[in-house]
Amino acid sequence: MSVGKLNDEFINFLRELKQKNDIVEVIGNYVALDRKGGNYWACCPFHHERTPSFAVNEGEQYYHCFGCQESGDVIKFVQEIESTDFMGAVQILAARAKMTVPENGYDSEEAAKRKKKRDTMVQIMRDTARFYLNNLYSGDARADKYLQYIQNRSLAPTTVKKFGLGASLDYTSLPKFLTTKGYSKEDAIACGVLSADDKGRVFDSLGERLIFPIINAMDEVVGFGGRTLDKTKFAKYKNTKETMLFDKSKTLYNINLLKKLKREQTVKEIIFVEGYMDTITLYQAGFKNVVATMGTSLTKEQARLAKRYTDNILISYDGDFAGQNADLRGLEILKEAGLNVRVVPMPDGLDPDDVAKQGAEEYQKCLDQAMPVIDYRIHALEKKYDIKKTEEKRQFVSEALKVVRSGESADVREELLKYIAKISGTAFHVLERDLNNIKQEVLSVPQEGPKERITEISSEVDKTQKAKRFVLAAKLFSAPYAQSVDLSDFLWKDETHIVVANYIMDHEKSGERLHPSELFVLLENNAEIGAILDFNNGDKLTGPIAEQFFNDSIRTMQSEAIEEEIEQLKATNAQCTEKSEIMELAKKINECVRRRNALKKS
Ligand code: UTP
Ligand code: MN
Repeated sequence: MSVGKLNDEFINFLRELKQKNDIVEVIGNYVALDRKGGNYWACCPFHHERTPSFAVNEGEQYYHCFGCQESGDVIKFVQEIESTDFMGAVQILAARAKMTVPENGYDSEEAAKRKKKRDTMVQIMRDTARFYLNNLYSGDARADKYLQYIQNRSLAPTTVKKFGLGASLDYTSLPKFLTTKGYSKEDAIACGVLSADDKGRVFDSLGERLIFPIINAMDEVVGFGGRTLDKTKFAKYKNTKETMLFDKSKTLYNINLLKKLKREQTVKEIIFVEGYMDTITLYQAGFKNVVATMGTSLTKEQARLAKRYTDNILISYDGDFAGQNADLRGLEILKEAGLNVRVVPMPDGLDPDDVAKQGAEEYQKCLDQAMPVIDYRIHALEKKYDIKKTEEKRQFVSEALKVVRSGESADVREELLKYIAKISGTAFHVLERDLNNIKQEVLSVPQEGPKERITEISSEVDKTQKAKRFVLAAKLFSAPYAQSVDLSDFLWKDETHIVVANYIMDHEKSGERLHPSELFVLLENNAEIGAILDFNNGDKLTGPIAEQFFNDSIRTMQSEAIEEEIEQLKATNAQCTEKSEIMELAKKINECVRRRNALKKS
């Protein structure tokens, strides 16, 4: 938990805070709630939807969205909707209930120190951003070339202000400025804004560059991108190093303005671009729903971040990106996060910035041509080969068929085959036959084996994962059929499951009533808890087959435990040299297998 360990006084304070801030009242101030059954319902404020799947459970004082699985208590809700952190939300709710937040809520000195350090870093970053911005308008002659450059790239003054652009004019002014502000060298270095040379002298890490502040969803400056105007310099852009505040792989450039946009309107889709300038130019041209991945391959965290705003992503990278496998893998990551992905084709050699500069209509034309990833891969091959030449046509068809093979459904594959037949002038049935041939070829290659197995295992994992969630949910909401089961009989691996299982077992021991909403204090920002709560939907825990599903889940978990035992015995067996021991182990393995088979039959 990011706020560190809390002391007893603070825990009591939080309890009172939550009592005085009824979740239905608080959420009701932000969205219109409809009472239906035991719950209140609304369209989810955290993802785009037309039919309400956001439920507020008054009795247990938590909310859960069955669409995006966001869930939490009243503190978490305020944290999300107000774009603030845990303590920020606590302050807001305390003010609402006219309570005073106790100082020193942190038990461990460590946590208090960490929090203080972070606060200082946020201040240094903000002051540094202001410093760079002031440089730009200081009248200093050294700023002229940056102002000129901004003008050449057709950025309006309001845009420059909106993105907080600035300039570093030399390497020494920033360290001086930060010192007069009273910050220590060490803190400034920890922020990444200053660096030290081997003699211990500090200098501006992004000296003599045009500066793009990188701002998170809580409106904190977490890093900077710096562009040199000097063409002889090796790296065109330099970014702040990874720090306590800045992790490029978890950040999207412009997420702060996207968050504001979402307050004003529903965000139907987000445009992903590669660079700072692409983002700014598109924003200025009216495409405000744009974020940049800052040149790197997409990560899971970035996908999750985007999913808070919309389900639909438009990839608008430079024209040649499909040539790079890393980037295509990035698109798979988006799909795995449950996002719909389409790719925007770009004219050769141009990036979104170049196109948008020619006018919003020009870029809109590109957007209108957005296509599914698989179509885009065919499209990229079409560009790569000159299909008027027989040899290149053959190569095109052969590579295109490999792409078709990855198609998710027969419909998709058939449609693509028709298209390839049309543009290559090859008969459809010939392509169909060739496609089937590749299939057989690939499947008969032994290396493909593990891949097939992995899907099998992962559906198995899925099954036990679901079983565990169901069992925990049944316990958490006191389903009668779950009473006699002892959670300590099973293997709990997932960290969230361990916390939830312990929470339940502790309460069973003491006989205290369970309050699922307390879990949000134990598990901040945790998606798995949403998946568990998901089962408390309608009749899932109480319906006619609930008990049967529960028993099946228990069996699934037992069988996992036996499998695990077998694996361990086998591993010990492999290391064993003593014959009698080997026999003993073999007996135990047999016993496990018998138990497993009996379980399967039951
Ligand atoms: P590009 O090279 O496409 O830059 O890199 P760009 O945005 O079109 O740059 P301009 O238009 O010449 O100003 C895309 C993004 O990759 C990151 C930056 O975030 C950049 O915006 N990048 C690129 C780096 O971090 N370092 C580099 O050296 C180059
Ligand atoms: Mn560019």
